[in-house]
Amino acid sequence: MTYATKLLSPSEEDIAAAAEMLKNGEVVGIPTETVYGLAANALNETAVAKIFAAKGRPADNPLIVHISRFEDIYNYAEYVPENAKLLAELFWPGPMTMILRKKECIPYITSGGLDTVGLRFPANITARRIIDKCGFPLAAPSANLSGSPSPTSAVHVMDDMQGRISAVVDGGSCEVGVESTVISVSDEGKVCLLRPGFITLEKLTEAVGEDNVTVAKGVTECVSDGERVLSPGMKYKHYSPKANVTVVKGDIDSFSDYIAAHGGDNCAAMVFDGDEDKCPCRCISYGSTGEQQAQRLFSLLRKADEKGIDQIYVRCPEQSGVGLAVYNRLLRAAGFEVISL
Ligand code: TXA
Ligand code: MG
Repeated sequence: MTYATKLLSPSEEDIAAAAEMLKNGEVVGIPTETVYGLAANALNETAVAKIFAAKGRPADNPLIVHISRFEDIYNYAEYVPENAKLLAELFWPGPMTMILRKKECIPYITSGGLDTVGLRFPANITARRIIDKCGFPLAAPSANLSGSPSPTSAVHVMDDMQGRISAVVDGGSCEVGVESTVISVSDEGKVCLLRPGFITLEKLTEAVGEDNVTVAKGVTECVSDGERVLSPGMKYKHYSPKANVTVVKGDIDSFSDYIAAHGGDNCAAMVFDGDEDKCPCRCISYGSTGEQQAQRLFSLLRKADEKGIDQIYVRCPEQSGVGLAVYNRLLRAAGFEVISL
């Protein structure tokens, strides 16, 4: 089916129109503080099926369920351990998704066949107004076509989804720029980091104590096809632009020498602020702090594709703080191709 995808604003009238579409079981692109989401009624199987179709997403990859009040956690999670309450108090509303045992009302199509549900209370005001207006939770994966970089503006969503969904609500560009931190919280309160994000490993550890936090293998290592993964999304090649991405570890001089020796005609380099004139190719800065790099990463990868670049060399970011999230996304964009100089 082809839709005449409408571009809506965050005005009262347009939010009401978006909510009306969602009530009718349609799919709408919505802004969040992390990346844009492809939203539908999380409790309506037919509506959720349309998300999978629009995105071309494998059916075993579960969707995050977005709520607009903390108390809703009790409507959708079977059990809420103390550590989950504590983390929600500290980091909600905000870019953190908690995976808990699901209540029956969450359909299996939403949870990708799992007995758990990923719950997120976003900080973005427009997202919350839309959820409030609907009166039901919204299932929403990132609003990109499966496999391409996540969208951080309404234009990105249009580029991928025009004709495939009913509307996109334009809430400007996303402040965080990478998807939420995903953690599972067991009934005993043990926390496992499945996908790093703006709510860092350091902050989680500080909140619940080092003994209660583990990091899933897929965060910084390649999980092979047959291996069981805690978060199905981690096994898919992700965030890939059309260009080949290579992560390069080393100082700026050896980085520059490497490009001089290996870079072809149509390559580009992503470096830190101040190093833009130090490489023998087209060179762009993606920032110096993890926060800046997270905010710019996906839109720069999309821009490289628009320019027809076929090889991107990226200076390896710090692997701590928000940098760990940037590193995790880059590893996937690069298909785990990392060169250490
Ligand atoms: O910031 C975000 O989280 C954005 C915005 C729109 O909220 N959403 C997002 O959704 O990134 P998605 O579907 O692109 O990524 C969700 C990840 C996937 O890797 C999925 O496998 C995992 O979270 N996930 C969701 N529910 C899960 C569950 N019950 N168990 C394990 N992993 C789950
Ligand atoms: Mg995604």
